[in-house]
Amino acid sequence: MKKIISKSVEETREIGYKLGELLSKGDILCLTGDLGAGKTTFTKSIAEGLDVDEDVTSPTFTIINEYDGRMPVYHFDVYRIMSIDEMYDIGYEEYFYGDGVCIIEWATQIVELIPKEHIWIEIKLGDEINTREFYLDGRTDYYQSVIEELIK
Ligand SMILES: Nc1ncnc2c1ncn2[C@@H]1O[C@H](COP(=O)(O)OP(=O)(O)OP(=O)(O)O)[C@@H](O)[C@H]1O
Ligand SMILES: [Mg+2]
Repeated sequence: MKKIISKSVEETREIGYKLGELLSKGDILCLTGDLGAGKTTFTKSIAEGLDVDEDVTSPTFTIINEYDGRMPVYHFDVYRIMSIDEMYDIGYEEYFYGDGVCIIEWATQIVELIPKEHIWIEIKLGDEINTREFYLDGRTDYYQSVIEELIK
């Protein structure tokens, strides 16, 4: 588990951008943290690092938004999901086991569907206003190397 502290939205954007640059096809990123922790803010910059030009907005009512970057970017927000069936209805496997990068806000809601290989990122509010603590857990050697690069 690695910890990164961000002291501003700008710093969060820089971390996200760099992470986006480091990602590859098929990568799965799980994001957790309280309301307003910064999951969507972070996701927007990850998408930028993946060369997405379109503005990324939270897919709260649609579960998933799809973007074109240097590879497809699938942004999930499963906060409002009532039943796991909603994931089957949207055909989640096509995304999770497809050719793009998946970024999943509120991943704990669908933890049973998360592929074993993923990065788990928890964002916590820090002691000071505008400070956030990122806890990054790469569950494979590959993901651990991504995190090592990110914190360099
Ligand atoms: N260091 C920081 N990093 C990220 N966001 C920050 C930071 N400091 C302040 N903020 C603010 O915190 C808010 C984060 O909102 P955001 O929508 O990204 O959170 P979220 O985790 O996606 O929330 P939700 O659970 O509602 O989807 C924004 O208003 C942002 O400006
Ligand atoms: Mg959000």
